[in-house]
Amino acid sequence: MGMESVPAAPRFPICASAVLAEGRHIKVKLRFEGRREECLLVRYRGQAYGYVNRCVHMPRPLDCEKDLVFDATGRYLRCSMHGIVYAPDTGASVSALCEGERLRAVALYEEDGVVGIADFRVSAVTGAVRGAPPA
Ligand code: FES
Repeated sequence: MGMESVPAAPRFPICASAVLAEGRHIKVKLRFEGRREECLLVRYRGQAYGYVNRCVHMPRPLDCEKDLVFDATGRYLRCSMHGIVYAPDTGASVSALCEGERLRAVALYEEDGVVGIADFRVSAVTGAVRGAPPA
Protein backbone atom coordinates (compact mmCIF):
# COMPACT_ATOMS: atom_id res chain seq x y z
CA MET A 1 0.00 0.00 0.00
CA GLY A 2 1.64 3.22 -1.09
CA MET A 3 1.21 6.60 0.41
CA GLU A 4 -1.48 8.56 -1.29
CA SER A 5 0.13 11.40 -3.08
CA VAL A 6 -1.39 14.77 -2.47
CA PRO A 7 -1.83 16.65 -5.72
CA ALA A 8 -0.13 20.02 -5.83
CA ALA A 9 -2.18 23.08 -6.61
CA PRO A 10 -1.69 24.42 -10.13
CA ARG A 11 1.00 27.06 -10.21
CA PHE A 12 0.65 30.45 -11.82
CA PRO A 13 3.95 32.32 -11.86
CA ILE A 14 3.41 36.04 -11.31
CA CYS A 15 6.68 37.92 -11.09
CA ALA A 16 10.32 37.79 -10.22
CA SER A 17 10.92 37.79 -6.48
CA ALA A 18 12.87 41.04 -6.71
CA VAL A 19 9.86 42.81 -8.23
CA LEU A 20 7.79 42.12 -5.14
CA ALA A 21 10.07 44.15 -2.92
CA GLU A 22 9.63 44.60 0.81
CA GLY A 23 6.66 46.83 1.57
CA ARG A 24 5.40 46.81 -2.01
CA HIS A 25 2.31 45.30 -3.53
CA ILE A 26 1.27 44.12 -6.93
CA LYS A 27 -2.15 43.18 -8.18
CA VAL A 28 -3.40 40.50 -10.51
CA LYS A 29 -6.81 39.55 -11.75
CA LEU A 30 -7.76 35.96 -11.35
CA ARG A 31 -10.54 33.47 -11.13
CA PHE A 32 -11.05 32.46 -7.50
CA GLU A 33 -13.75 29.94 -6.61
CA GLY A 34 -15.11 30.52 -10.09
CA ARG A 35 -15.48 34.28 -9.67
CA ARG A 36 -13.44 37.14 -11.00
CA GLU A 37 -11.39 38.61 -8.22
CA GLU A 38 -8.40 40.80 -7.77
CA CYS A 39 -5.50 39.50 -5.75
CA LEU A 40 -2.96 41.56 -3.82
CA LEU A 41 0.51 40.19 -3.45
CA VAL A 42 2.54 41.86 -0.73
CA ARG A 43 5.90 41.27 0.86
CA TYR A 44 6.29 41.70 4.59
CA ARG A 45 9.40 40.85 6.59
CA GLY A 46 10.72 38.94 3.65
CA GLN A 47 7.72 36.74 3.14
CA ALA A 48 5.24 36.98 0.26
CA TYR A 49 1.52 36.93 1.10
CA GLY A 50 -1.54 36.95 -1.12
CA TYR A 51 -5.04 38.22 -0.36
CA VAL A 52 -8.25 38.75 -2.25
CA ASN A 53 -8.40 42.52 -2.59
CA ARG A 54 -11.64 43.10 -0.73
CA CYS A 55 -12.03 44.77 2.62
CA VAL A 56 -13.87 42.86 5.36
CA HIS A 57 -15.90 45.98 6.17
CA MET A 58 -17.47 46.69 2.80
CA PRO A 59 -16.84 45.07 -0.56
CA ARG A 60 -14.22 47.60 -1.62
CA PRO A 61 -10.63 47.05 -2.70
CA LEU A 62 -8.12 48.20 -0.11
CA ASP A 63 -6.67 50.68 -2.58
CA CYS A 64 -10.07 52.03 -3.66
CA GLU A 65 -9.33 55.63 -2.62
CA LYS A 66 -5.56 55.74 -2.83
CA ASP A 67 -3.04 53.77 -4.77
CA LEU A 68 -1.61 52.42 -1.53
CA VAL A 69 -1.96 49.16 0.32
CA PHE A 70 0.65 49.45 3.07
CA ASP A 71 0.13 52.20 5.62
CA ALA A 72 2.72 54.89 6.29
CA THR A 73 4.54 52.75 8.88
CA GLY A 74 4.89 49.79 6.51
CA ARG A 75 3.73 47.52 9.32
CA TYR A 76 0.13 47.19 8.28
CA LEU A 77 -2.08 46.93 5.25
CA ARG A 78 -4.67 49.68 5.27
CA CYS A 79 -8.01 50.07 3.52
CA SER A 80 -8.17 53.57 2.11
CA MET A 81 -11.97 53.74 2.44
CA HIS A 82 -12.42 53.88 6.24
CA GLY A 83 -8.95 53.03 7.40
CA ILE A 84 -9.13 49.49 8.73
CA VAL A 85 -5.60 48.20 9.20
CA TYR A 86 -4.64 44.59 8.78
CA ALA A 87 -1.69 42.51 9.89
CA PRO A 88 0.14 41.74 6.62
CA ASP A 89 1.07 38.22 7.69
CA THR A 90 -2.39 37.04 8.76
CA GLY A 91 -4.76 39.38 6.95
CA ALA A 92 -6.61 39.97 10.25
CA SER A 93 -8.07 43.36 11.06
CA VAL A 94 -6.31 44.89 14.05
CA SER A 95 -8.68 47.88 14.05
CA ALA A 96 -11.65 48.16 16.40
CA LEU A 97 -13.77 48.07 13.28
CA CYS A 98 -14.17 44.42 12.24
CA GLU A 99 -11.47 43.37 14.70
CA GLY A 100 -10.17 39.89 13.97
CA GLU A 101 -11.96 39.53 10.67
CA ARG A 102 -9.63 38.39 7.96
CA LEU A 103 -8.94 39.14 4.36
CA ARG A 104 -9.22 35.99 2.31
CA ALA A 105 -5.76 34.55 1.89
CA VAL A 106 -4.57 33.30 -1.48
CA ALA A 107 -1.80 30.71 -1.25
CA LEU A 108 1.48 31.69 -2.88
CA TYR A 109 4.73 29.94 -3.57
CA GLU A 110 8.19 31.39 -3.96
CA GLU A 111 10.88 29.34 -5.60
CA ASP A 112 13.92 29.94 -7.80
CA GLY A 113 13.42 33.69 -7.71
CA VAL A 114 9.80 33.60 -8.79
CA VAL A 115 6.65 34.41 -6.83
CA GLY A 116 3.47 32.78 -7.96
CA ILE A 117 0.03 31.63 -6.93
CA ALA A 118 -0.58 27.98 -6.04
CA ASP A 119 -4.07 27.73 -4.62
CA PHE A 120 -6.67 25.11 -5.48
CA ARG A 121 -9.37 27.77 -5.53
CA VAL A 122 -7.59 29.69 -8.29
CA SER A 123 -8.35 28.33 -11.74
CA ALA A 124 -6.81 31.07 -13.87
CA VAL A 125 -4.84 34.28 -13.73
CA THR A 126 -6.64 36.44 -16.22
CA GLY A 127 -5.38 39.96 -15.93
CA ALA A 128 -2.43 42.15 -16.35
CA VAL A 129 -0.03 42.22 -13.52
CA ARG A 130 0.17 45.68 -12.05
CA GLY A 131 3.66 46.85 -11.47
CA ALA A 132 5.32 43.67 -12.61
CA PRO A 133 6.15 41.94 -15.86
CA PRO A 134 5.07 38.31 -16.02
CA ALA A 135 7.70 35.92 -14.68
S1 FES B 1 -14.52 49.59 3.23
FE1 FES B 1 -12.52 49.17 4.05
S2 FES B 1 -12.54 50.17 5.95
FE2 FES B 1 -14.55 50.45 5.22
